[in-house]
Amino acid sequence: MQETEMDFESRIITSDFTPEDNDIESSLRPKTLDEYIGQEKVKENLSVYIEAARGRGEALDHVLLYGPPGLGKTTLAGIIANEMGVNIRITSGPAIEKQGDLAALLTNLQEGDVLFIDEIHRLNRQVEEVLYPAMEDGVLDIIIGKGPSARSIRLDLPHFTLIGATTRAGQLSAPLRDRFGVIFRLEMYTPEQLATIVKRSAGILEIPVDDAGAGEIASRSRGTPRIANRLLKRSRDFAQVKYDGVISKEAAVDALSKMEIDALGLDNIDRVLLTTMIKNYNGGPVGLETIAAAIGEEAVTIEDVYEPYLMQIGFLSRTPRGRCATALAYRHLGFEQDGQQTLL
Ligand code: ADE
Repeated sequence: MQETEMDFESRIITSDFTPEDNDIESSLRPKTLDEYIGQEKVKENLSVYIEAARGRGEALDHVLLYGPPGLGKTTLAGIIANEMGVNIRITSGPAIEKQGDLAALLTNLQEGDVLFIDEIHRLNRQVEEVLYPAMEDGVLDIIIGKGPSARSIRLDLPHFTLIGATTRAGQLSAPLRDRFGVIFRLEMYTPEQLATIVKRSAGILEIPVDDAGAGEIASRSRGTPRIANRLLKRSRDFAQVKYDGVISKEAAVDALSKMEIDALGLDNIDRVLLTTMIKNYNGGPVGLETIAAAIGEEAVTIEDVYEPYLMQIGFLSRTPRGRCATALAYRHLGFEQDGQQTLL
């Protein structure tokens, strides 16, 4: 159990944001919609909404972005602000603890600015209540004083665009969700799109990589640019020390297998998760909390970080009675349908 917890700490394919990503991501982050690869439908509609709002001289309507972590929600928010020619203020649901914190953010905005709230599903009720009139009517209702002498004053806010990002749209309260004029779901990237992203990033970071090397990294990045960029940097280390500096297919395969990332991008934790389901629970259906306890991970982590990709590649299904490992998962991990492991 302890081992899996430790593994998670050092999990190279986590799509959570790590401090090291900060410098990489800021240099690699596309600044315009044209530079942004993938999410074609989102880009197409967004470019219309941006052009229309700009043409009318108005702030863009409030935007909700949802989908698994690492797919570029913050990047898109930055692009929106850039294309609208306005400033962006970045914060997150848990960072806004009190109504006053949000009031301070809102009153510091300039006309047309973007306020980006990551993990918006984690805003508390009191803060949400301040947000509703701000989003809907552009006003801030604040109460001054306490008890019988308390009174409410209303301040006009500059027009602004709230961009909310969440991994779990279902957890957003209905009144909050209803106040977004634009809602986009971000999809996982195809290996071809990820290969293009890897090559773009390699160009910026001056990392020599050939097409086959980029393709190998792409196909093991779980549909996620953040992971692709991280694997690119780690593969560069292997290519530099053990090969001639170029990330060829051979160098990439070697690097990724040393990092224990298999051909589909699964790491140890994915394999422990699926193997536990198959061996201990007959492949399911088994409840999320049961799996979480069995492998020593938090249920929300399993749900937000591991499951989306396993479902995407058809290895896991969510049913009303619990999670099931599919025949594809059995085959990939070398199990017969009766749960016996075949020799690989
Ligand atoms: N880097 C990370 N995500 C990207 C994307 N969608 N397009 C281009 N570069 C990226």
